[in-house]
Amino acid sequence: MRFANPIFVALDTPDLDCALAIAGAVKPYVGGLKVGLEFITALGPDAVRRVVETGLPVFADMKFHDIPNTVAGAARAIAGLGVAMFNVHASGGEAMMRAAAEAVAGFKPRPLLIAVTVLTSLDEAALAAVGQRGPAASQVGRLAALAKTSGLDGVVTSAHEIAAVRAATGPDFLTVVPGIRPAGSEKADQRRVMTPAEALAAGADILVVGRPITAASDPAKAAEAIARELGLPKT
Ligand code: C5P
Repeated sequence: MRFANPIFVALDTPDLDCALAIAGAVKPYVGGLKVGLEFITALGPDAVRRVVETGLPVFADMKFHDIPNTVAGAARAIAGLGVAMFNVHASGGEAMMRAAAEAVAGFKPRPLLIAVTVLTSLDEAALAAVGQRGPAASQVGRLAALAKTSGLDGVVTSAHEIAAVRAATGPDFLTVVPGIRPAGSEKADQRRVMTPAEALAAGADILVVGRPITAASDPAKAAEAIARELGLPKT
């Protein structure tokens, strides 16, 4: 494992108190926290700083996609909040990804820069409707390879596509994997899921876990159970 604790908890809420309460409760059992567009749009940069102040690494799921100059500015801004990792859309192209990577190269510590390849909400019909022909898996591989060439550190991918990503990029590239469901938990709107142990065995570096922890009646207990399943020590 590349991370001592690969579990990142997705704080998908527009309520800062709720997010900080969950963060405090799960802290001994997880390796990081994720904040996304809902959280950041509703609560702003100060709320991100508050989450960073918990002391856990924070993944800002920004999914930036714009012209290189604009993405570079946004990349500097999010890195300036102290996040450990953020992401951009690989379909923004090589120049955009390079601009993002260059914009944060001087930060100490430098945040990891991750690419989104193909949104898992798009099926082949939806991809064809936006002009993207051919199997989604080929597009995932192509964009993952481009992200690596552009100097990024890894991709967000479903656990089922880790092998395709590795084939395109080689082993030295991070995979950040959502769609994680411990055995017996609700799938909700996720379709192609894996348990935490299965995803790690498939080669995942970071497991993004939201509702199985945040919607549990006792988030700390839910996080502890996943950590125990993976044989992780409490911190
Ligand atoms: O609650 P759940 O465990 O399904 O949350 C998964 C998290 O990962 C959410 O924040 C979701 O936005 C994010 N995500 C995802 N699938 C992707 C990319 C991100 O579920 N392809």
